[in-house]
Amino acid sequence: MTTMFAQNKFLWGVASAAYQVEGGYQADGKGRSNWDVYTNEYQVTQAFIDKQHTGNVAINFYERSQYLQDIALMKQLGVNAYRFSIAWSRILPNGIGEINPKGVAYYHQLIDDLLANDIEPVVTNFHWDLPYQLQEKGGWGNSNSVQWYAEYVDVLFANYGDRVKKFITFNEPFIYLFFIDLLAHNAIAKANPYAISNETYGKQAEAVHHLLLASAIATQNYHQLNLGGVIGITLSFTPTIPLDANNAEDVRAATVFDGLHNRWFLDAMYKGKYPDDIVKLHQQYNPAFQVSAEEMQLIAAHKPDFIGVNFYAPAYIKADASAPYGAEWFSTNPDEVKMFNGPVRPEYLYQLLVWIKNEYGNPTIYITENGAGFGAADEQLDGNIVRDPLRTDYIQRHIDSAMQAKRDGVDLRGYFLWSFCDNFEWVFGYDKRFGIVYVDFDSQRRTPKQSFYAYQQIINETPSK
Ligand code: BGC
Repeated sequence: MTTMFAQNKFLWGVASAAYQVEGGYQADGKGRSNWDVYTNEYQVTQAFIDKQHTGNVAINFYERSQYLQDIALMKQLGVNAYRFSIAWSRILPNGIGEINPKGVAYYHQLIDDLLANDIEPVVTNFHWDLPYQLQEKGGWGNSNSVQWYAEYVDVLFANYGDRVKKFITFNEPFIYLFFIDLLAHNAIAKANPYAISNETYGKQAEAVHHLLLASAIATQNYHQLNLGGVIGITLSFTPTIPLDANNAEDVRAATVFDGLHNRWFLDAMYKGKYPDDIVKLHQQYNPAFQVSAEEMQLIAAHKPDFIGVNFYAPAYIKADASAPYGAEWFSTNPDEVKMFNGPVRPEYLYQLLVWIKNEYGNPTIYITENGAGFGAADEQLDGNIVRDPLRTDYIQRHIDSAMQAKRDGVDLRGYFLWSFCDNFEWVFGYDKRFGIVYVDFDSQRRTPKQSFYAYQQIINETPSK
């Protein structure tokens, strides 16, 4: 099957990640991943939701009979693209070395099934589930991770590059390395689940640097193969707002957090330089963190073809000596009804997109994640529909904001909603629902929510040029 997708058609999509949806955790020769071990052996969700949840079954997307029904529902929704990630441990059970043909075959079939339904597969190579054998060797903290990753993605390009025309090297390096993985490790160590030290941040600077080198090398390798597609990276963005604009300490902390989370990645790729203020902080807590001019040149020389923007919310930043680098961001949401990932401020999506355009030379952008969850009150089953007025309103306002930015010259080529179905929300297990399709996790029954129909209408009514 060789359906080609025009590069300039606006993509309306939904997004997911392997560990959050697939299940089949021991199926067909899959190796163990970090998350298999975190959830089964260390029961990390216990520290956050007081229950053990795992991705062993998740929403059963590994079963073809299940995912074909989900694809049928995607067609009904009207999306023309589906962003999903590949589980490295299905392809290479030990992380490197032997290839698992059945794991490779699963994604061949999924890609063909999507194409047969005119849904473009957009593939994230890595969305946080690392083969456990590599994790035991130090994961991204080990400089060999650059080579491990290059070997893995070569298998993906060779197998799927004929039909997949958009690859994403990584999902959200910041949230992965500076947040979720650290929370999981706190739970394993039976430490305060949210406490993160300055030294830990300093150490993670090495890991994030390896990851960016891996992304650059994968981009270079992909380009050399001339497969006629594009490759990008998905970054999380959290515009910062000082909690008290008149407090110089809050203002300073907001700048620090902005550097860590937002400027770090784009500066490296588009300016060939990490922000000085943040390099200084990392070195203060980890003098071993050093980068060479050659490495920075490599990162800048092999820029992504597009930036995947994940936006959920800005963060109010409070100066707090007990928070890493003195910037508290996670517990400061002033909204009365709290969205899981922060305050609802759609205008910051517009500002963010325009800032990227002006500051980094108008790169091509796909919004690769945007979505919301507010808890049980916004998940009311009512006959054949689940009423989620808050999520519905969130989605409508964020799409409006994104389309305004597009009209104002941002090179925005697509929007992927997170997420299609409710799924496994990392350390929070199944307690945090982000789907526009409700999942009964016992029966696997799907029920479209009000937001599903709202998104369907937006797709129908918005001109996609
Ligand atoms: C991640 C997803 C996650 C979503 C909702 C993003 O940070 O990429 O895996 O489920 O946010 O919190």
